Amino acid sequence: MVDSPVRWGILGTGGIAAVFTEDVLRLPDHEVAAVGSRSAGTAEDFAARYGIGRAHGSYGDLAADEGVDVVYVATPHPMHYEPARLCLEAGRAVLVEKPFTTRAADAESLAALARERGVFAMEAMWTRFNPLVRRIRDLVADGAIGDVTAVYADFSIAAEFDEGHRLWSADLGGGALLDLGCYVLSFTWPLLGAPASVQATASPAPTGVDANTGILLGYDSGAVALLHCGLRGDSPHAATVVGTRGRIDVAPPFYRPASMTVVRAGRDPETVTAGVDGHGYTYQAQEVARCLRAGRTESPLMPLDETVEILRTVEEVTGLFRAQSTSTQP
Ligand SMILES: NC(=O)c1ccc[n+]([C@@H]2O[C@H](COP(=O)([O-])OP(=O)(O)OC[C@H]3O[C@@H](n4cnc5c(N)ncnc54)[C@H](OP(=O)(O)O)[C@@H]3O)[C@@H](O)[C@H]2O)c1
Repeated sequence: MVDSPVRWGILGTGGIAAVFTEDVLRLPDHEVAAVGSRSAGTAEDFAARYGIGRAHGSYGDLAADEGVDVVYVATPHPMHYEPARLCLEAGRAVLVEKPFTTRAADAESLAALARERGVFAMEAMWTRFNPLVRRIRDLVADGAIGDVTAVYADFSIAAEFDEGHRLWSADLGGGALLDLGCYVLSFTWPLLGAPASVQATASPAPTGVDANTGILLGYDSGAVALLHCGLRGDSPHAATVVGTRGRIDVAPPFYRPASMTVVRAGRDPETVTAGVDGHGYTYQAQEVARCLRAGRTESPLMPLDETVEILRTVEEVTGLFRAQSTSTQP
């Protein structure tokens, strides 16, 4: 497939599936070859909307489609594991929406399967491939701000309560942490790695999922990360990386920034700007293409072991939240 377009299959036909499809259709060396849905009618409607050649009435049929190079899994979080497993079993590469799975053990099992089959797999943590977010990694790795001492990042939205919506429903993997906390954690990881200590406090929604969550991570280097995710109010969606010789202020939203200011000790602050292509998802599609063409089974920018590590921290935070919820019950 070195010179031929990457042929995508879209699995699930909800909100983000549509947005990602629109972005893939912008790319000249990619095509959306097929879509799969739980129902044939929904698949056909989606295919008609985007001019997609094949519509499958089951996820299994999409996984078995030999005319697809990589399947984008865009179902609610607890429904990522099974379709991703089906695709990998069929030898199909996968780009799986965030969070990759709801349990670290499931992520480990998918990673093992992908490695055993020699098939590409990656979490769709799309923000990592944004040019400015990549630049932050590079600046920090090059020592532009010295040693990192703190990361602050927040991602809270004012979401209307609806017990049946995937954001609030426990059965659909609801809660701030799984939906938005994975962004602030994933932003922090390339800068500080895995934490030595995890503290958190969270308040529950009426459905029992976490609605407003603060996380404090500690590192062996002495660095800290202060992270917030929530469903009960719009926060700035800002991020700052503090170092011993400077600071990077990322303009909101930090997951799709158009600018950032690099403050280096003894120098004038430098503001770096960059446009955002489409809805911001073309970069991850291009990363998948780069990896597939190079015969890679993982992306160096979003390795599977990091996905698993982050989910372990998600589980630790969830454990702390559950313990608090239990101890505050009458
Ligand atoms: N990267 C981003 O910026 C971003 C943004 C939003 C969401 N996401 C992620 O993408 C995933 C999907 O989110 P979304 O907002 O697109 O969800 P959504 O609009 O509810 O769509 C989810 C789709 O999954 C399929 N599905 C399979 N089992 C389902 C079930 N039991 N209940 C409901 N739908 C089911 C349905 O497609 P069929 O009926 O066709 O099978 C449905 O249309 C989530 O994991 C979320 O974290 C990422």
